Amino acid sequence: LSFPGGSGRWRVGRSTFREHGLPHELVVLTDLSRTLREEERRAWQRLVRVLGHEMNNSLAPIKSLAGSLETLLRREPMPRDWKDDAESGLKSIASRADSLSRFMQAYTRLAKLPPPQKEDVDLGELVQRVVNLEPRLKVQTVPGPKLQIHADAAQIEQVLINLVHNAVDAALETKGAVTIRWREDGDCVEVIVRDEGEGIMNPTNLFVPFFTTKPGGSGIGLTLSRQIAEAHGGTLSLANRTDRTGAEAVLRLPR
Ligand SMILES: Nc1ncnc2c1ncn2[C@@H]1O[C@H](COP(=O)(O)OP(=O)(O)O)[C@@H](O)[C@H]1O
Ligand SMILES: [Mg+2]
Repeated sequence: LSFPGGSGRWRVGRSTFREHGLPHELVVLTDLSRTLREEERRAWQRLVRVLGHEMNNSLAPIKSLAGSLETLLRREPMPRDWKDDAESGLKSIASRADSLSRFMQAYTRLAKLPPPQKEDVDLGELVQRVVNLEPRLKVQTVPGPKLQIHADAAQIEQVLINLVHNAVDAALETKGAVTIRWREDGDCVEVIVRDEGEGIMNPTNLFVPFFTTKPGGSGIGLTLSRQIAEAHGGTLSLANRTDRTGAEAVLRLPR
């Protein structure tokens, strides 16, 4: 909305009232720019915190290895196995640099999600494909109604792979089970992935890019999955179960 003397993002509220028997209309404009900027600032802060953490994890060992190698080269006389030490130090440096570059590739993938190429997809078949892709644990499929959705099959498959992967990660910790089911809800469908893991420790950071609590985790699974869900006009949520310990992910999509 823009008008003389002001432009930006505004919330418009409208109501009617009567005064002295005459109908009036009340329009209230609220400047939202400040609130939105504050939200944006917080999102950036969270992102920079996670990015910084990941970069330090690679850069700190690189610097320390470079220091040890320098000390090694200055030693007089050189220790007999200096070549082995130098070789293993350089290998570690290369591997840290590789992992940092993989991390940056993942970041690029996040920033460049293509728009969904929608087609008619049989939801039950898609779910079955995803379940068959999980070798670590037999995920139980609770059969649901036969449903067609209009969606990008590859992208939705990616979302479900991520959700099942996280559920299995959690369930393996407790030797619990994972189930997947789907249902119809008005003009939407919901796919529900439940696990019997420990549940979610801290729900605030789940969807922050690169947030992970796993040693080899990328922390982009949920962020990417939510982006895909929203690009389809749907939603993705993850919360603790209310019936027992464990987590429940709900992917909701328009049909
Ligand atoms: N089913 C789940 N149960 C408990 N915690 C979960 C579950 N799914 C996701 N999380 C938490 O959310 C974090 C981010 O998940 P994700 O974006 O998929 O990245 P990653 O799996 O690489 O860690 C995980 O590290 C974990 O702490
Ligand atoms: Mg994951």
